[in-house]
Amino acid sequence: MFPPFIRTKKLLLLSLLVFGNTEHACAQNSGRERTSLNEGWRFSRFTSNPDSLSYDTLKEWMLPAANGFLSGDKKYERPSGTAPGSDVEFTQADFDDGAWQELDLPHDWAIAGPFDAPGVGGGPGRLPINGIGWYRRNLTIDADVVSSGKSIFLDFDGSMSYTAVWLNGELVGGWPFGYNSFRLDLTPYVKAGGNTLAVRLDNALDSSRWYPGAGIYRNLWLVVVNPVHVGQYGTFITTPSVSTQEATVKIVVDVENHLNGTRKVDLATEIFPVDPTTLKPSGEAVSSFSTSSVTVTGGSKQSANASATVTSPKLWGPPPTQEPNLYVAITTLSSNGTTFDTYETVFGIRTIGYSPNQGFLINGEHVRIFGTCNHHDLGSIGTAFNYRAAERQIQLLQELGNNGLRTSHNPPAPEWLELADKYGMLVLDELFDAWKEPKVENDFSRIFDDWYEPDMRNFIRRDRNHPSIIGWSTGNEIPEQSQAAGGETGKMLQDIVHEEDPTRLATNAMNSAGPSSSLSKVIDIIGTNYQGEGRGESFSSSWPSFHSTYPDKMIWSTESSSCVSSRGKYLFPVTPNKTAVVGNNPGQGGDSTNRHVSAYELYSPSWASSPDKVFEQHDRYPYVAGEFVWTGFDYIGEPTPYDESRSSYFGIIDLAGFKKDRFYLYQARWRPDLPMVHLLPHWTWPDRENQTTPVHIFTSGDEAELFVNNKSVGRKKKGEYEYRIRFDDVKYSAGSIRAVAYKNGIEWATTETVTAGSAASLNATADRTSIAGDGKDLSFITVKVLDSDGVIVPEASNSITARIASGPGKIVTTDNGDPTDKTVFSSATRKAFSGLFLAIVKADKGSTGDIVVEFQSDGLDTGNVTVTAT
Ligand code: GAL
Repeated sequence: MFPPFIRTKKLLLLSLLVFGNTEHACAQNSGRERTSLNEGWRFSRFTSNPDSLSYDTLKEWMLPAANGFLSGDKKYERPSGTAPGSDVEFTQADFDDGAWQELDLPHDWAIAGPFDAPGVGGGPGRLPINGIGWYRRNLTIDADVVSSGKSIFLDFDGSMSYTAVWLNGELVGGWPFGYNSFRLDLTPYVKAGGNTLAVRLDNALDSSRWYPGAGIYRNLWLVVVNPVHVGQYGTFITTPSVSTQEATVKIVVDVENHLNGTRKVDLATEIFPVDPTTLKPSGEAVSSFSTSSVTVTGGSKQSANASATVTSPKLWGPPPTQEPNLYVAITTLSSNGTTFDTYETVFGIRTIGYSPNQGFLINGEHVRIFGTCNHHDLGSIGTAFNYRAAERQIQLLQELGNNGLRTSHNPPAPEWLELADKYGMLVLDELFDAWKEPKVENDFSRIFDDWYEPDMRNFIRRDRNHPSIIGWSTGNEIPEQSQAAGGETGKMLQDIVHEEDPTRLATNAMNSAGPSSSLSKVIDIIGTNYQGEGRGESFSSSWPSFHSTYPDKMIWSTESSSCVSSRGKYLFPVTPNKTAVVGNNPGQGGDSTNRHVSAYELYSPSWASSPDKVFEQHDRYPYVAGEFVWTGFDYIGEPTPYDESRSSYFGIIDLAGFKKDRFYLYQARWRPDLPMVHLLPHWTWPDRENQTTPVHIFTSGDEAELFVNNKSVGRKKKGEYEYRIRFDDVKYSAGSIRAVAYKNGIEWATTETVTAGSAASLNATADRTSIAGDGKDLSFITVKVLDSDGVIVPEASNSITARIASGPGKIVTTDNGDPTDKTVFSSATRKAFSGLFLAIVKADKGSTGDIVVEFQSDGLDTGNVTVTAT
């Protein structure tokens, strides 16, 4: 249980933890084989139930999968008798699925659209998320694997949702919650040779407030191990003492014995550095744990503890002041000198501390959290996990100066946390948007009583070795947060956090529970959503009262701002205020006819605020550890304030991955050492000659001079609590605007925006011109509409068509970041939005060579770019 020192006023230094129980594919002679089952599926979606099955009929067979995650002696017995589904034709070997769609995983069936799917509201993005989905494929298991008595597991990284699995017509089991990873034991049902694997998913309408996606949307693995092996998430590494001279590393290894008889097992673990690029072990072992033995009786699990010292450890920490160094512990199980299992655990060595007065500390350094919240979709690709798309998101966020990520409101793909470890991001890992009381009819509240414990323990065990994780969130804006039940359930969940991970604290994202709520009393870290900075135009903050009521607890802003905007759309007049609630009256920043919100980055819904106001409040209350802004990227669904749209307006970066003006407002604050200056709005307003057109400057400098058509309009310093330099009285006149920023009186950065003529050509650039020819790697191609002088035409909305002119590639999707654009993402043709268009391209699997991607638009010079598959 949690140590009492956690509540002292002193700086709380907790030691590090680590990363992924990554069972990287190991050679067969290591005793462990982990193979992808992503390929070769047949799929069909049904909008009405084709099989008479339901969670109610399947539940008793699903619950035994929870057994490994229940405390005490609680265990579910698999019911005797015939399991449901053995009479459903889709589970049978002889069912002809030839008419079903052929596909590879990860797969999100809803992203294909079309939009405005019957019954699906704006929240989940109006895409066809609902229905029953069946997946089928053959699974060949070698005879010697079966005859040698290996254990055979199916590991889902994530599947949306209510997943049930049959092998050869026998119900194996399932897991309802769509965001957790889970393992099913196929061993009793496998036969040598061909096996029929059938998976049923069940997505109800009204299951989510945002786009949840649908399908087996993350990787799927077959794990074959000897019957005595390291269990699922079977290692836990901590570093109870860390200095620059040496670190103590502790490991707990769970050994499972699936045989009938008792076995004595010898364990050895060596520690290697991890190559920062490949994330693979590199070089010589830097330390090893003392070898130990455990005796495990048949059908049970035993833990072994060991300790090692790493001298001169390279610590894990966030850039720019620290480096995200990683290690890997390679554990082997053997008997009489013969190795029969090998298991890798990537981890980092670091300390973290939660100071009520200073904020967050890592390796003794105070690091303010400049974080963002993000949902799990990857824009036009949907929720189907793609490594490169996720990496691009993290790279763009790092360019922003974002050092923290909140996995709102659910656990992410395992690879996403590997990326966070690799890039040195500080992660607040979150589970649950609802407990017992629903937010939408079919959310987690439907199964809370049976599944909260297995889902909570599963979530923490999977993720607790990642050094990037600095806290666990037990929920977001839980409806019962202000009631007595908030404290009761909050404590119950937090107790599980402490049992599963004594090295980190728990928080909860509270938008309404105040200091006197029972939830605030029990929670380790006070997490505030919006109430800290004050809602809307109010500056009344709950932080002083939380801080004085709980002088021993750190406070952070688990969710802040919720500023809304459409990239490149500027509406006049502009509010003179620091923040304004979006509406349709003049100065309120909203255009309900065209469903756009002004990109002056000053507008928000009633509960929310502009970035500037949040910055001010953080500067006034510096003991608050930092913020997780809602959101880094726009996401599908929740299109506040225009429910008819397809995607959100909240992102600092739009759905296509294009930077909104807000990107530079955050960058100016989060990367104070980066010389930068940014101007808005654009300067092509043929209808605004001589009209007041405010110019705002975002800079990491402290002062700026503005020139309109090379004439100085003035030079201004940022005042106290000012984060932008405003020239609100500028009269538009075609030509140019230029800003020269200064820091401490010295010229720091300069930028210019010129008036564009009419559209003349398309210009294409790829984020990467060399990609792997594996059918998965992606190149993100930005197309700009330019005038004859090469100036971007800022309001261009020309229709553009992307095509592969030659070479072994495919257009995966297109987008433009326009929240109102309901063209299906797979369409190669769509309009530019505010002058930009995106095409995502991949190479054919197994191909090499040049892929020429061409972009055409009527009346404009064609653009093209070459991407090489290697
Ligand atoms: C919060 C909520 C988020 C999102 C956001 C939009 O209250 O936690 O999930 O809905 O509002 O502003």
